[in-house]
Amino acid sequence: MIVVRRALPGDHTAIVEFTRDTFSWGDYVPGSFLGWLDDDNSAEFVAVQEDDRPIGFTRIVQLSERETWAHGARVHPDHRRRGIGLALQRTGMDWSLQQGAIVNRLMTESWNENGGRLVAKAGYRPVASWFHASRQLGDDIGDGGPPPQTMHTASSAEVEPALMAFSHSDLANEAHGLIPIGWHMRSVRFEDLAREAQSRHLWSAPAGWVTIQPVAGQLGHVWIPWIVTIADDAYAFVRAIVAQLHTHGTTDVGALLPATPWLASAFEHAGFRVEPNIIWEIPVDYSPGPNAHTNSG
Ligand SMILES: CC(C)(COP(=O)(O)OP(=O)(O)OC[C@H]1O[C@@H](n2cnc3c(N)ncnc32)[C@H](O)[C@@H]1OP(=O)(O)O)[C@@H](O)C(=O)NCCC(=O)NCCS
Repeated sequence: MIVVRRALPGDHTAIVEFTRDTFSWGDYVPGSFLGWLDDDNSAEFVAVQEDDRPIGFTRIVQLSERETWAHGARVHPDHRRRGIGLALQRTGMDWSLQQGAIVNRLMTESWNENGGRLVAKAGYRPVASWFHASRQLGDDIGDGGPPPQTMHTASSAEVEPALMAFSHSDLANEAHGLIPIGWHMRSVRFEDLAREAQSRHLWSAPAGWVTIQPVAGQLGHVWIPWIVTIADDAYAFVRAIVAQLHTHGTTDVGALLPATPWLASAFEHAGFRVEPNIIWEIPVDYSPGPNAHTNSG
């Protein structure tokens, strides 16, 4: 029989064993697991058999009073298609309900068909498309075009016009009202951008506004979770961002942004690797229909 219980530090070795090669690039679960256990805003669950050894894992994070985010779902390759992924997902929903949340979301990479099938079967619906863009900034970043626009840090007074521009853009439709907090997403608030302006992370150029955050513990790495521009200006803006970051010694840029085709292609054109993602949503009190899959244990 399969039982789902809260994860413990002693589960680390078993989790590392079945997650270290999850994807072609490895996995982030082994290196993050022990730190997650100290997070008061998250719950980590394992699925175990009679020997109490984990063969499945998932994590759920509370991002606001009403929103949770699920990620890190992993099932041992020898134990897949036995309902363990669904059992872990349901435990995450129970925890969300206990926290007073009303909605849970998660993200799957577009190529991850099994992940998509699992969450669709669990009752999630796709609500938004975002893309992850990444590139390194070597010595040669130029493309021979005109000099890039100059950027400056924006003051708090620019937060309102920036948000107004965003809400009138098709970026807002694609974003589904969300903003990334690292790799997780919750509803965007005025204070999110106000805080970025106060921290001098909100930048502007004639072509738009963008937030650029240093990545904690990774010198030279920055993260872009929010941008507003228009289709005609997008490439010029991305060039300006790249030039600005290069001048300030940035080596690695990551971004998670709403996937309007014109924004994704501006990043691609500027040398970024672009990977599409799907955002899924479910009410936490969702109950599967009478014909739904039951856990086979
Ligand atoms: C995705 C993953 C967690 C699924 O775990 P699992 O325990 O095998 O999932 P379940 O047995 O609960 O599957 C539930 C449903 O999801 C769908 N599904 C899951 N894996 C599938 C696969 N390989 N092919 C087709 N459908 C699949 C099916 O609808 C399945 O129901 P069914 O078996 O009655 O047809 C597991 O394959 C895994 O660890 N993959 C690598 C990591 C990953 O991609 N994580 C997901 C990130 S969102």
